[in-house]
Parts: sequence; C-alpha cells; structure tokens
Amino acid sequence: MKILTAATLLLCGLASASIHEGNPKKQLKFNSNGKFKIVQFTDIHFGEGLANDQNNQRLIKQILEQEQPDLAVVTGDVVSGYAWNYWTRPWAALQYANFTKVLEEHGTYWATTAGNHDTQADLNREQISELDRSFNLSLTLPNAEANLSHAFNYVLPVFDKDGKEVQFRMWFLDSGDDNCLGVWGYDCVRNDQIEWFRREQTKIDDKSKGKGFLFLHIPLFEYVNLYNDYSFFGTRGEDICCWSVNTGLFSAIKEQPTVEWISAGHDHNNDYYGTYQGINLAYGRKTGFGSYANITHGARVFEITQDPYSIETWVREDGGNVVRETQSRPRDPFGSKPQTRCGGTLGKAALIDPEDEELQFLREYYLRRADLRHLVKE
Ligand SMILES: *[C@@H]1O[C@H](CO)[C@@H](O)[C@H](O)[C@H]1NC(C)=O
Ligand SMILES: *[C@@H]1O[C@H](CO)[C@@H](O)[C@H](O)[C@H]1NC(C)=O
Ligand SMILES: *[C@@H]1O[C@H](CO)[C@@H](O)[C@H](O)[C@H]1NC(C)=O
Ligand SMILES: *[C@@H]1O[C@H](CO)[C@@H](O)[C@H](O)[C@H]1NC(C)=O
Repeated sequence: MKILTAATLLLCGLASASIHEGNPKKQLKFNSNGKFKIVQFTDIHFGEGLANDQNNQRLIKQILEQEQPDLAVVTGDVVSGYAWNYWTRPWAALQYANFTKVLEEHGTYWATTAGNHDTQADLNREQISELDRSFNLSLTLPNAEANLSHAFNYVLPVFDKDGKEVQFRMWFLDSGDDNCLGVWGYDCVRNDQIEWFRREQTKIDDKSKGKGFLFLHIPLFEYVNLYNDYSFFGTRGEDICCWSVNTGLFSAIKEQPTVEWISAGHDHNNDYYGTYQGINLAYGRKTGFGSYANITHGARVFEITQDPYSIETWVREDGGNVVRETQSRPRDPFGSKPQTRCGGTLGKAALIDPEDEELQFLREYYLRRADLRHLVKE
C-alpha cells in the first residue's frame, strides 16, 4: 500500500512537472478527436466606431461558433491606437475588453502577440501584455526572459491527448511597432529575441523539435522572396510591409529544426502562404472592420492532426464561406513586378505626406511621444 502510494505520487509529480511547461492556467492538448485547431484573428482594429466594433464582435462570434477552435491566436492590432482622441482614459483597455468579451462568452482560450497600432493610444506594450494576461482565458505569458525586447516573447507547448508528451510548440515573437533599430519603416524582431529563440531551440530534445508554429505581427523579408520567386496560394493584394532591417530570424530558423509554419498579420490585403526554402510562410486573414481592406474579412484556421502528424489550413470568411486554396499561383522567377524592398519604408522616411491618413496619425503619435518627436521632419 505504501509502495503504491509512493509510485502514484511519483507519477503525479512527473505529470504535473510537464503540465507546468506552458501556462499553468491550462494545459493545451490534442482533443479527443486527435486534432488541435487554431483560429488566427489578426488586425481587428477595435476603436473605429460603434458599427465597425459591432461587426468585429459579430464576425468573431460567427467564426468561433463555426470553427470551435481549441485556441484563438491573436497576431496584433486588436486596437486602432491612432483612433484615440488623446484625452479619454482609459481608452485602449475598453476597446480591448470589447474584443476579449466575445472570446470569454464563447469560452475560448487565447494567446496574443501585439501589433504596431495597439500601442498608439494610452497603453504601452508591457501594459497591454499585463491587461491581456489579466483575463482568465488568456494564455499569453510575460516575456520568457527579463530584458527581451518588446513584450510578447514566449512559447506554448501542445501535448498529446493524454497530456503526457509535447507534440509541437507555438512560439510568439513580438515585432514591435515602428523603425527597427532606428531605421525608417516598420519594427522587427530584435537580435536578443532571436538569440533567445535560438537558445531555447537547442534545449529541445524530444520529438516536438522542429514542429510547430511561430506567430508574429510584422512579416519577415523572406515573405518578399516567396512572393517574387516561388509558387504560393492565396492573395498578395499589396506590398509586403516587412521589417526595415532584416535581423536574421530566418537564419535561426534554418540552422536547426525549429518551426514549420510562420504566420503573420499586418498587411490587410495579403493572405497568401507558400513554402520558401523548406519553411511555410503565411498570412492570417484580416479579421476586423476598422482600417483599410480590399478582401473579405475572416480568419485563418490551422488544424493539426496528432497521428499521423499533419497540418491543414483554410480561411473562414464573414458569411460562413470556407476558402481552401487548391490552385497555387505558379512559380514566377522572372516575374514582371518583383518587390525589391519592404513596403512602407519610403513613406515613413517622409512622414509628411498629407494625403496618407496613416502617416498623418503616425506623425501626430510621434509628436506626442517625447522619445520619438525628433523623428518627425519639419
Ligand atoms: C465597447 O466598449 C465601450 C466602453 O465600455 C462601450 O461604450 C461600447 O458600447 C462597446 N462597444 C461594443 C460594440 O460593445
Ligand atoms: C476568473 O477565475 C477565478 C478563479 O477561478 C474566478 O474566481 C473568477 O470569478 C474568474 N473571473 C471571471 C471574470 O470569470
Ligand atoms: C535586466 O532587467 C533587470 C530588471 O528589470 C535590470 O535590473 C537589469 O539592469 C537589466 N539588464 C540589462 C542588461 O539590461
Ligand atoms: C478590391 O478592389 C478592386 C479594385 O478596386 C475591386 O474591384 C474589388 O471589388 C475590391 N474587392 C473587395 C472585396 O473590396
């Protein structure tokens, strides 16, 4: 009897040790059908008027009801920070709660990385992380190590359906907001974040190594290479607005088996995906009604099957339509319109274009921030 108790205790000790890898609020595991389904909500842009916000809530509810995901992944720009009037406080937190309310009502757990617009109102990245984590169903974690750049750098493992062994991991990296290392354009994942990612990968020695996803807001430059030279599925409806400096995340991904899929947001009219040098690069589908879009609103879905391990992706659109791409755009190595640099770089260098609404917002935002004010040209 004594021996049995000791054995039971030992087993429980082991099981709970692995359960606490990830967020102790909830162990993520394959469901009883041996599947794990992720819905990626991106660029929702709450805060641009009641009608848009109500449409956001309606669509998110529709998608949750139709897809019944095991986890919602949020890849940034939940809130249109630029729509803030500069005096109403709190503001961003209330917009954020309009979003999380829908997930809570549906009982859906979620994990977040922030975008470039979330911080343009009255909350900074650390505060948004803290706010997000304060909700019971949020599985977002604080930065995995102190002093990592930006605020949403962490990993969540997904276990087999018995909750014993990690099957794959979901990495969340924070691509910041504007100007990578002071270079005009969009921000990036910094070298210290990449070093952390690289170090963590070397520690993995189970069968989950090399499997899984990396979610972030602003795409890597390699998305341009995929578009220019390779076949892909889906729509490339605007320039790829990637990091103003390529800090080398892709090299860390290629050095050792790390992730199989990267999925970004940021570019509202792009939802394409394809394989570039052995890694699948994808965009989510723009979810929200705020800000621009020339594409039907929706969300990308990833469904992972445990055994045999496989991944399927599709887009669930407003109205219920499911888009499963079957026809890729053929490889076009000498394409007539290659993209040569990350979009947004030139416009931001100017920051004076009176025709461009986003640049106007950005200019005003920079002027309100003592640390960024010097970047606005006279
Ligand atoms: C969002 O939150 C604000 C403040 O709590 C509220 O006034 C507004 O009605 C909400 N919008 C929606 C669509 O729920
Ligand atoms: C969050 O979880 C705690 C602990 O289970 C519970 O006491 C609390 O009521 C929950 N809050 C909400 C808003 O559901
Ligand atoms: C790291 O963060 C800690 C606590 O915030 C701080 O005391 C320390 O100076 C930081 N170290 C570096 C190298 O930035
Ligand atoms: C996108 O723009 C094109 C050209 O302006 C237009 O024909 C098309 O209807 C638009 N599509 C959507 C979904 O808004």
